[in-house]
Amino acid sequence: MAENTLIAGPAPGPLSGRLRPPGDKSISHRAVMLGALAQGDTEVTGFLAGEDNLATARIFGQLGVRIEWLNDERTHLRIHGAGLYGLQAPDGVLDAGNAGTCARLMLGILAGQRFASTITGDDSLRRRPMGRVVRPLRRMGARITGPEDGNLLPLTVQGGRLAAIEHRSEVASAQVKSCILLAGLYAEGDTIVREPRPSRDHTERMLPLFGQPVSRLEDGVRLTPTGSLRAPDAVLAVPADPSSAAFFAVAAALVPGSEVRLSGIGVNPRRDGWRRILSAMGGDLTLTGEARVGEEPVADIVARNGELTGVVVDEADIPDAIDEFPVLFVAAALARGEFVLEGARELRVKESDRIAVMAEALNAVGAEVEEREDGVRIRGVPELAGGAEVDARGDHRIAMAMAVAAQRAGREIVIRNAAAIATSFPDFVPMARALGMNVRWAD
Ligand code: S3P
Repeated sequence: MAENTLIAGPAPGPLSGRLRPPGDKSISHRAVMLGALAQGDTEVTGFLAGEDNLATARIFGQLGVRIEWLNDERTHLRIHGAGLYGLQAPDGVLDAGNAGTCARLMLGILAGQRFASTITGDDSLRRRPMGRVVRPLRRMGARITGPEDGNLLPLTVQGGRLAAIEHRSEVASAQVKSCILLAGLYAEGDTIVREPRPSRDHTERMLPLFGQPVSRLEDGVRLTPTGSLRAPDAVLAVPADPSSAAFFAVAAALVPGSEVRLSGIGVNPRRDGWRRILSAMGGDLTLTGEARVGEEPVADIVARNGELTGVVVDEADIPDAIDEFPVLFVAAALARGEFVLEGARELRVKESDRIAVMAEALNAVGAEVEEREDGVRIRGVPELAGGAEVDARGDHRIAMAMAVAAQRAGREIVIRNAAAIATSFPDFVPMARALGMNVRWAD
């Protein structure tokens, strides 16, 4: 495999500059999905051309949807919508690759089709739990079969007429909520999803742009299907991904003398937990140029170096920062005092077991991380030793987080199994280098 090992750090000097990270992964998935199911053409700009989103686009190609790429970078596209009932039976197995969002949301869409289909994923995705979406979809009437009574991919879905349900999710998960809402487009009656804490709400923000209202409940959402989606008149612009911005914000916070400006970043409160936690740690983050892109709030974020202190993470912030914990652990590893995270067991079922893998990687380079069942305790150290090899285990965010850690290490860190960076941030290395980070591919 090309480009699988990263060599990173230490930073030769302050980080500086201004850039716009690529488009938001969650929003890019939803733009393709709703565009494909709408009547009419949907034009999207700022799309994330990462492997995860390209897998979603490829799957809709197999389902008969024409997607026209309008530039070489594949950030600008036109989706020729097939309508809710216009998808065609695929000629082969659908492959979500590494993308949990693709697999789980597609299951909701496939459940509503009159044909059977099979969806699978890579080694990592085939280990991740699907029962959380399969159980409610079965209650709606879908017939789904696969390993471990349908908890694991590959799953075969025999869709058809669905009945609306009220589902009370055990976990705060936007993938579960969105899967059921998408199936709800095909169901008779009102679909209601309740969650223990609010998860990211991109699906419910985007559906009304396609003529499908969603009402907010105190602890969830309700969808009354209108029977069709309509392509929006306006271009659908995707904000820059806060999950990608967070790597550079933490790097700037850690490297003495740094100041970087990250522009056009999504600051939706359901994605903004990393900023609240880093600010509570003393991180110097300033918001400017606040605006709206479609239904999503965006802003420029200026991140500066400063001393960080450990905090006890408020459990209410966990769903809003769920993807940023790897890099927040790096900030904590170099902060004064202790950082405590509890109630975050979900981190164990992401692209890797992010509690175990981050604890192992950070401890290998000189941090003091104590792994807990549902979180971590991290005692900050003034400097990481580095001079070691770590294994990102094919998890994009572990690889990028360790590249950030390396900027404050005494000696360089070799990061194995880092190719998955291409799933969410193919240009991570050139962008990091443009800001002054010391990182390169070894092969
Ligand atoms: C996502 C939801 C989250 C997040 C993932 C993207 C989404 O997963 O971790 O990266 O786009 O809906 P969960 O729903 O499993 O929390």
